[in-house]
Amino acid sequence: MQAIRDAILSGDRSQETFANLEIPQSYRAVTVHKDEAGMFEGQASRDKDPRKSLHLDEVPVPELGPGEAIVAVMASAINYNTVWTSIFEPVSTFGFLERYGRTSPLAKRHDLPYHIVGSDLSGVVLRTGPGVHAWKPGDEVVAHCLSVELEHPDGHNDTMLDPEQRIWGFETNFGGLAELALVKANQLMPKPDHLTWEEAASPGLVNSTAYRQLVSRNGAGMKLGDTVLIWGASGGLGSYATQMALASGATPVCVVSSPDKADICKAMGAELVIDRNAEGYKFWKDETTQDPREWKRFGAKIRELTGGKDPDIVFEHPGRETFGASVYVARKGGTIVTCASTSGFMHEYDNRYLWMNLKRIIGSHFANYREAFEANDLINRGLIHPTLSRTYALEDVGQAAYDVHRNRHQGKVGVLALAPEPGLGVSNPAKRAPLEAAINRFRNA
Ligand SMILES: NC(=O)c1ccc[n+]([C@@H]2O[C@H](COP(=O)([O-])OP(=O)(O)OC[C@H]3O[C@@H](n4cnc5c(N)ncnc54)[C@H](OP(=O)(O)O)[C@@H]3O)[C@@H](O)[C@H]2O)c1
Repeated sequence: MQAIRDAILSGDRSQETFANLEIPQSYRAVTVHKDEAGMFEGQASRDKDPRKSLHLDEVPVPELGPGEAIVAVMASAINYNTVWTSIFEPVSTFGFLERYGRTSPLAKRHDLPYHIVGSDLSGVVLRTGPGVHAWKPGDEVVAHCLSVELEHPDGHNDTMLDPEQRIWGFETNFGGLAELALVKANQLMPKPDHLTWEEAASPGLVNSTAYRQLVSRNGAGMKLGDTVLIWGASGGLGSYATQMALASGATPVCVVSSPDKADICKAMGAELVIDRNAEGYKFWKDETTQDPREWKRFGAKIRELTGGKDPDIVFEHPGRETFGASVYVARKGGTIVTCASTSGFMHEYDNRYLWMNLKRIIGSHFANYREAFEANDLINRGLIHPTLSRTYALEDVGQAAYDVHRNRHQGKVGVLALAPEPGLGVSNPAKRAPLEAAINRFRNA
């Protein structure tokens, strides 16, 4: 592995050098273990501790199949899906691997007693399988996390509709929180050359998701002048949604839970920020009863900030706790677009506000290759910036996932894999120089 790291650090990117590098028999990877899937039974979600379930193991290198690539991972990032995997909620991800394994002999490789997690990476291609012509050893890449087979007609207008659509490193094995990763070649995209390895690895999953959810015609189709309510506006998804709203000439109304988080939204350029903790909203009176007066109080606060405008779009992901309020505050004819349910997936809302006011709820999930590519291109062109706050070592992924689970983080949390230290990997310093302050906005926040 040291030879691979040295080759990457040397700056040589020739195909010959990388194609001739020996791939070791095994590599270090962050895993959960199948025989531990019941370890948190009986505990409340917030007490389940990813530090206990995430391991750093030496694992064998998987066989390379057609259309695939093995990438040397310089850096990766924590996504909430690794939190879900590590606490075995809402289901153990070994069920995904078993089901995938039954679909083909090649997919069978994924059905193992350990699951290598992680859905983001930046690194360098080491090997490509038969049928791969767009990428070659030595290419600097980032990977998006959409894994599709495309053997059925359904996915050919929008690959997210493929019946064999999976999230790499969550519903498949051999993810990015490791020294090597196995991806389909159509997950690869060029690494932005003005970013460090850890900066380049951090936007992928959330940036692509926010792009489809908010910008794409498959999502809310945001336009110039829209008012957009963004939950968790300094978090993973929200920090990209906020930047996209600002860059599109829309007005974000950012919801956060502390003054520090409010400050970071303002540093991104947002002017309208609601601290939900300071306002003390209690949308639920108890486990089963919502309080519409609190929806109204929240809506009144939004109008106070916007000068009377209700949101054209509500960017939803907290789920059960906020969904009733989200449906209520969207403007007549407005759109609630949801991609998650962090606080619970059995949503309740008052349907009278939806149908009488002709609102729409849109479900959105990750992004197709084209959308992921466009989202990465925004980063590459310096129109949207990484929101990396902290970087951990591979050994400390348990702690990193714990911090995200406990909502102690800002923006994105990065992880170094083969990169020996942060700050490496910039090959276009002239492009970076004018963007430096924006790239570093979330640093150490
Ligand atoms: N479908 C997909 O493709 C997709 C892709 C990415 C993520 N997701 C899912 O989306 C969710 C968020 O992901 P993320 O990466 O943005 O996570 P994140 O970095 O933890 O940010 C989420 C933010 O939501 C806010 N939040 C959490 N619980 C809340 C609640 N009960 N009420 C109001 N706000 C709450 C928090 O902000 P404040 O405390 O500051 O308000 C938090 O920072 C996760 O469940 C994740 O699995 C889905």
